[in-house]
Amino acid sequence: GESRTYTGKHAYPVPHALATEELPRIIEEFVTASRNAIAAGFDGVELHGANGYLLHEFLAPSANTRTDNYGGSPENRASFVIEVVTAVANAIGAGKTGLRISPEHNVQGAVENDRADVLATYTALVQGIAPLGLANLSILHHDPAGELVQSLRKAFDGPVLLNTGFAEITTYEEAARVAAEGWGDAVVVGRPAIANPDLVRRWKEQLPLNKPDFATFYTEGPKGYIDYPFWEN
Ligand SMILES: Cc1cc2nc3c(=O)[nH]c(=O)nc-3n(C[C@H](O)[C@H](O)[C@H](O)COP(=O)(O)O)c2cc1C
Repeated sequence: GESRTYTGKHAYPVPHALATEELPRIIEEFVTASRNAIAAGFDGVELHGANGYLLHEFLAPSANTRTDNYGGSPENRASFVIEVVTAVANAIGAGKTGLRISPEHNVQGAVENDRADVLATYTALVQGIAPLGLANLSILHHDPAGELVQSLRKAFDGPVLLNTGFAEITTYEEAARVAAEGWGDAVVVGRPAIANPDLVRRWKEQLPLNKPDFATFYTEGPKGYIDYPFWEN
């Protein structure tokens, strides 16, 4: 296959399983990127442990077939993510570091369909990072009130941000319900925030919303990033 990039079509690179000796360099890359973000003026860094990307690949048994200490048991699969989060927190400060996870999201080859394994893996992860005192743990899950999310929240014992996923665009009603029921400490908003530079005002005043334009979500240039209109008057 080929992937379309800004510089034309290119053959997909063939991924290789990271050798154990390569992992310290990967951790260093997360640390360097995080330091760079803080140096550039960012308030903090959210480590992406969700949606089938690298850190999630260590967690999910479908993607992690390693035979070293980072594969196999739930604790082993959680350990690389714990090491990355710890290294970044130590470098830039735990108060500037968050982690996003999406247990059971089952996208991009990260399949987690054994609840007992999911609970064991993510409990090991959360117990491993809880002592750091991170800024937050952001959880994407379709059932924020359910046992999995609430048990992870209890184990984390810090601010938990919630998002119910892509199936439906987050609405004011849904966000307000999650907050009112106390299932988490805040709600993460994706597409409505992309499309509405004044989303807080619009939700507060119950104003109509701009519709997100999916065609510009991942494009180059300012279109779709800075040109959604503010509510006039
Ligand atoms: C253009 C776009 C980019 C996204 N990038 C990320 C990302 O880098 N990391 C992540 O965890 N989620 C990412 N998401 C998912 C959102 O955080 C959120 O979970 C999802 O959009 C569902 O919430 P919503 O209904 O409020 O949009 C992205 C979503 C969109 C639309």
